[in-house]
Amino acid sequence: MKMFYFLFLSSLLFSYCSAADFCVGDIKSALTPSGYPCKPAAKVTVDDFVFSGLGVAGNTTNIISAAVTPGFVEQFPGLNGLGISLARLDIASGGVIPMHTHPGANEVLVVLSGTICAGFVSSSANKVYLKTLTKGQSMIFPQGLLHFQLNAAKSSAVALVSFSDPEPGLQITDFAFFANDLPTDLVAKTTFLDAKTIKTLKSVLGGTN
Ligand SMILES: *[C@@H]1O[C@H](CO)[C@@H](O)[C@H](O)[C@H]1NC(C)=O
Repeated sequence: MKMFYFLFLSSLLFSYCSAADFCVGDIKSALTPSGYPCKPAAKVTVDDFVFSGLGVAGNTTNIISAAVTPGFVEQFPGLNGLGISLARLDIASGGVIPMHTHPGANEVLVVLSGTICAGFVSSSANKVYLKTLTKGQSMIFPQGLLHFQLNAAKSSAVALVSFSDPEPGLQITDFAFFANDLPTDLVAKTTFLDAKTIKTLKSVLGGTN
């Protein structure tokens, strides 16, 4: 009987360990703080570990002349629980990925083509770390810090970025200030900007109030 329990327990342990090799996200379920629940192992195929979305340039015909094509857990469910994700940046001439943060991840960028001016601001002393990067150069943007990337040349630029979380999050500062219904007088009080500038930015970015 003791032997039976031993075998039973070790088989439980074994099945637990093999299942822990990966946890492909069942992205139809609700996202939890620890990611998505696992897709049943029997339904996992190699295609869950392959993502084909970054080979095509994003559409840069927009207000920022730039596009971010994410390979986060929603697009690439095999990343679930593995602490990594990636994205492609396309920045047309004159384009910019505006000041933003990723609340959930560190970022590393590598320039694949073109020239990108990138920078971040530290939270302790508001010190600026700024660099113009050419093809093959990489730069790190520590988690949660405000940063940006802009095209520093006349030709278009492409970069690959990777993140230390399957769900890095993306909060663009101008959208947080001007693309919602936070009343103009409160935006003015909390940013020291004048109401006229705020109204202009709200109308460009789709904000109200
Ligand atoms: C790119 O986006 C613009 C603006 O939304 C749209 O008019 C255009 O058709 C898009 N181009 C492609 C190739 O999808």
